[in-house]
Amino acid sequence: MKNFSMLFPGRVYFGNGCLEKLKDAPIRGRRGLIITGKHSSKKSGLLDRVKKILKNTGREIFVFDDVEPEVSVETVDKAAELARRYRADFFAGLGGGSAIDCAKAVSGIYRDRLSVKDYFDSNIPVRRDTGFLIAIPTTAGTGSESTRNAVLTYTEKQKKTSLRGDSMVPSIAVMDPELTYSMPKKITAYTGMDALTHAVESYFSSNANEITEILSFKAITLILGSMSAAYKKPSEKTARYNMMLGSFTAGLAFANAGLGAVHGIGHPAGAVLKLPHGLVNAVLLPHVLEFNLSAIGARLIQFKKATGIDMIKKIRALNKSMGIPGKLSGACKGAAKKIEEIIERVEYSASMSYNPVIMDAVKVRQILKGAL
Ligand SMILES: [Fe+2]
Repeated sequence: MKNFSMLFPGRVYFGNGCLEKLKDAPIRGRRGLIITGKHSSKKSGLLDRVKKILKNTGREIFVFDDVEPEVSVETVDKAAELARRYRADFFAGLGGGSAIDCAKAVSGIYRDRLSVKDYFDSNIPVRRDTGFLIAIPTTAGTGSESTRNAVLTYTEKQKKTSLRGDSMVPSIAVMDPELTYSMPKKITAYTGMDALTHAVESYFSSNANEITEILSFKAITLILGSMSAAYKKPSEKTARYNMMLGSFTAGLAFANAGLGAVHGIGHPAGAVLKLPHGLVNAVLLPHVLEFNLSAIGARLIQFKKATGIDMIKKIRALNKSMGIPGKLSGACKGAAKKIEEIIERVEYSASMSYNPVIMDAVKVRQILKGAL
């Protein structure tokens, strides 16, 4: 018996075409700022579509369209400045994890007239009365629509860091699988494997509870069953639907159960090697699972009995079929030489603290020696 508390997004619209539901959504606010990336939502016409839907509700809508991949603290500050100038009172993150995380961070800080760096440097908590927040993901992977944190790149310190606050969980999440049809193959692979990592790490997390375990299990089976089809045939509707459902359930699970050593090592490794988050996680995942065998071996056997799937073998085969290398040096030449720098930057709080095997620098080195 275990006591636990959980956080979920306020209202979720899920399913093909559900973007249109935004017109009837209970949005609190009159002046909205859509926060999105530089290219894809403009190119696909999605930005105009969202703008139109929101404008038709009688609200004033503004746009910040300068979010880069692995969004930086400088970009959050720029967007927050714009939010103050426009007197925005609600925010819509439209795009991949970076756009949604940027919107979450802006909603958390824009009323304070501080740089987001001040929150990290001086340990300032995010206020409770954040701006009303809508998440509209166009990838199936980050789970950002469910979590209370925004992952940002702290450029000067060359590290990824998280701004956290319960009030940063989106009030509305719009999960429309049709928005993922135009995702390039590489992004499908990286974001899908990130979602799988969320599902697997939350499943084995030492902080998991009865509900997150159900969500994680469902997410693992959905993603393992549909990843290949979504990668090979981008417009395959069932695969895209299942990937979005898998990503969403994984997000709900890890937002409440936490993650493990893949993310604990993956964040600094990605920052040092300048590799995408999903790619780093995909490479590290089988290495970390093998390292954790002493703690998770029995459950891996149970999983195989229930599903017929050898989880580690299946993950390796999926990576290979999508051109993801077995080691990080396959994606970044000279990665092995950076081992000390990565180890130095690993933090043992947050993600790492829920790994089923308690971690220290010796164990991180052992994993990295196999994975670099
Ligand atoms: Fe992740």
